[in-house]
Amino acid sequence: DASDIEKGTYPHFMLKEIDEQPFVMRNIINQYQNENGDLKLDDDIRAAMKGADRVYIIACGTSYHAGLVGKQLIESIANIPVESHIASEFVYNMPLLSEKPLFIFISQSGETADSRAVLVEIKRLGHKALTITNVPGSTLSREADYTLNLYAGPEIAVASTKAYTAQIAVLAILAVDSARAKGIELDFNPLQELAIVANAMEVFCDQKEEMEQIAREFLAVTRNAFFIGRAADFYVCLEAALKLKEISYIQAEGFAGGELKHGTIALIEDGTPVIALATQEHVNLSIRGNVKEVAARGAYTCVISMDGLQEEGDRIVLPKIHPYLTPLVSVLPMQLISYYAALHRDCDVDKPRNLAKSVTVE
Ligand code: G6P
Repeated sequence: DASDIEKGTYPHFMLKEIDEQPFVMRNIINQYQNENGDLKLDDDIRAAMKGADRVYIIACGTSYHAGLVGKQLIESIANIPVESHIASEFVYNMPLLSEKPLFIFISQSGETADSRAVLVEIKRLGHKALTITNVPGSTLSREADYTLNLYAGPEIAVASTKAYTAQIAVLAILAVDSARAKGIELDFNPLQELAIVANAMEVFCDQKEEMEQIAREFLAVTRNAFFIGRAADFYVCLEAALKLKEISYIQAEGFAGGELKHGTIALIEDGTPVIALATQEHVNLSIRGNVKEVAARGAYTCVISMDGLQEEGDRIVLPKIHPYLTPLVSVLPMQLISYYAALHRDCDVDKPRNLAKSVTVE
């Protein structure tokens, strides 16, 4: 049928979409670059970011996880306070808004009802909104004041992969553009760094056997699994756990390394799989400590680190990339491990039970 043609030689859309990520990065670089090789962004969006005293990011699911990374990028690069919110909660638990808020809606489909409900409400209150979406002309794009496109190409698999990395890349570009508008000096060129990310992704997409091996070893029969990390790695762990839950039905949790001892470590038994991310220099020692704590309680541990931070026994060492952009590369092994885990457990990778690609009911 038609879907087989679109998948080409790939057994699943998810695997195809994971592999497309280096191309998506390069596409974003081209789309957000002018003839001089500088960043190209709408003047209106730049002015809106410059005029905001606080940014409110609203999203659901994987897009929410990209928003957590985006919060960190915008705060540290552009020096604007940011809050990230789950759309479905925002309507009931609306925080006190700042004087000049700007709302950013992150949505692959641009059709998510929970996010739209927030958009309708904040428009009613007279606030401005920017939508970051993969579907130009979608509802959230039409109803917002401004739109940034992801240029990721259609995402068919229910489990989102390339949209997540595209969202983070575009948020990094937005953060840098806003910083420049505010006269902040940076020694971070997002277009150059994204090109390095694209290459790193490519190298990594060629190492699938190792991901398949890890999935078989750690996740083939287990009931549960934990992903731990600190700082930006924590946000990627939340996404890793969601990916695994969605398509393999393994009960999975993403946890902040330091929070484990306050409860979750009680769940660690002999052989419990714990996958740790260690790509952040300033927390490398502490996350290593957390790995030892769970290993001492019987956990079966797998450490994914980054060139320059590796220790003996690490299962995967990612190529070194700019600290702002590590989630773009560290999420890749997580996506692939989830994919192979689902495959080994005979799950319907592209169309998991109970889930929809785009949720248009509140
Ligand atoms: C659904 C999808 C998720 C997605 C979420 C938000 O639950 O299954 O993969 O992250 O909606 O979708 P959006 O299109 O707004 O990014």
